Amino acid sequence: MTRQPPGRIEGVLISRERIVARIAELADEISRDYTEAGEVVLVGVLKGAFVFLADLARALDVPRRIEFMALSSYRDGDRAGDVRLIMDLRTSIRGRHVLVVEDIVDSGRTLRYLLDTLGARQPASLECCALVLKRSALAVDVDVRYVGFEIPDVWVVGYGLDYGERYRTLPYIAAFQPPEVGED
Ligand code: IMP
Ligand code: MG
Repeated sequence: MTRQPPGRIEGVLISRERIVARIAELADEISRDYTEAGEVVLVGVLKGAFVFLADLARALDVPRRIEFMALSSYRDGDRAGDVRLIMDLRTSIRGRHVLVVEDIVDSGRTLRYLLDTLGARQPASLECCALVLKRSALAVDVDVRYVGFEIPDVWVVGYGLDYGERYRTLPYIAAFQPPEVGED
């Protein structure tokens, strides 16, 4: 008997069609803004951003390089925990135009950590593009230059986003109801 994952998908919040259309708009805007930059270094934040980065990077119309970082944040109850660097960039970003590509900005702590860490390395510019922003959940001050969609403070899965490592490969973004305490 297969064990069903706890919690459940509540329904499609952002369809595949809306995602595709919005990425085309973001790519146009970013391409316009970076025309003079020479080359933009796209820093994808693993794991969640891998799907968004793949689509965004291919839709851009400016020279670009792809790099990755991996971070993990520990949550202890509702107190968002420390952000930890799991995998760093392999190249210097000094004097480069850097665009951090994030799947989702929730409390903003992960992005704050990234911007502080990368900002200290003296890039020529440093901005962020996030597919999804939970503006009402922001707990720190971060500026997200390019935002795909703003959503309410609910848990979402799909298009790279997970719940316990599941659902990353769904082609759309869905609201997810985590299990009740005691539910299995
Ligand atoms: P932060 O609270 O902005 O630091 O969010 C950190 C990370 O939590 C994000 O990069 C995601 O990996 C994860 N996260 C936050 N909200 C969601 C969600 O609704 N679905 C899936 N992952 C999420
Ligand atoms: Mg993430």
